[in-house]
Amino acid sequence: MVEAVQDAAVVVTGAGGGIGAALARRFAAEGARVVVNDLDAGRAEAVAAEIGGVAVPGDASTIVERAREALGGAVDVYCANAGVASGGSEAADAAVWAEAWDVNVMAHVRAAHALLPHWLERGRGRFVSTVSAAGLLTMIGAAPYSVTKHGAYAFAEWLSLTYRHRGIQVHAICPQGVRTDMLDATGSAGDLVLKPTAIDPQDVADALFEGIAEDRFLILPHPEVAGYYQARAADPDRWLTNMNHLQQKWETAE
Ligand SMILES: NC(=O)c1ccc[n+]([C@@H]2O[C@H](COP(=O)([O-])OP(=O)(O)OC[C@H]3O[C@@H](n4cnc5c(N)ncnc54)[C@H](O)[C@@H]3O)[C@@H](O)[C@H]2O)c1
Repeated sequence: MVEAVQDAAVVVTGAGGGIGAALARRFAAEGARVVVNDLDAGRAEAVAAEIGGVAVPGDASTIVERAREALGGAVDVYCANAGVASGGSEAADAAVWAEAWDVNVMAHVRAAHALLPHWLERGRGRFVSTVSAAGLLTMIGAAPYSVTKHGAYAFAEWLSLTYRHRGIQVHAICPQGVRTDMLDATGSAGDLVLKPTAIDPQDVADALFEGIAEDRFLILPHPEVAGYYQARAADPDRWLTNMNHLQQKWETAE
């Protein structure tokens, strides 16, 4: 049991399946009271019923007040997990870019805006962002996803460096492939890059809980991502050349 989350009031967005459902299950197993959010009301209700939580369906951007009420007036932990796997290039539809910004970045900003006044007043609050290794590196074939996940990572980093002396803890979860509906929808690029090393959603929850116990910002369920991130920073051109080889391999395989 992780003391920090026992009896905590927790919100997990996009928790009707995949990583969010695994996070919700783990928080409930640790003794937390959990709000299960998803756009899909039926899936949110099913997970909430399974774990003894409360379903608050709807767009993740809009649910903080309803979630707070459902939890008796306060949120201790907010998991900004809902995300969209927007593929495509610079030529992706404007609507695809807009949805990626809205769900992958602005939903986090809006939630933080709604949560921070209360958290700062009482000197305590925990914000968990499900980013992606694409937020540290870049995913081939998915410009909107890569760009907005970099944005999600930057926002989590900004929150952490701005408020850590005021009792706010932030965690950025950056996995590569995780066996969920989203991974199944990533097509041939996902088959090439993500599926060979894919892990289960509960492995992501386990990695988060290790990070919470160690009070660590960066959560890497695939530890090898640390090496890729270092290589990218140490020699950007070499890293880009290697990524371009992957791109060419993908183009040939397509
Ligand atoms: N699966 C992977 O390989 C992988 C890897 C790295 C990061 N991630 C990230 O993990 C998070 C969860 O992804 P997943 O793989 O579990 O996906 P998933 O598709 O299995 O589940 C995502 C859930 O979010 C819900 N959702 C989508 N938009 C929403 C919105 N606006 N409001 C509320 N709910 C919404 C969906 O209905 C769905 O139930 C995402 O942010 C994703 O980018 C996934």
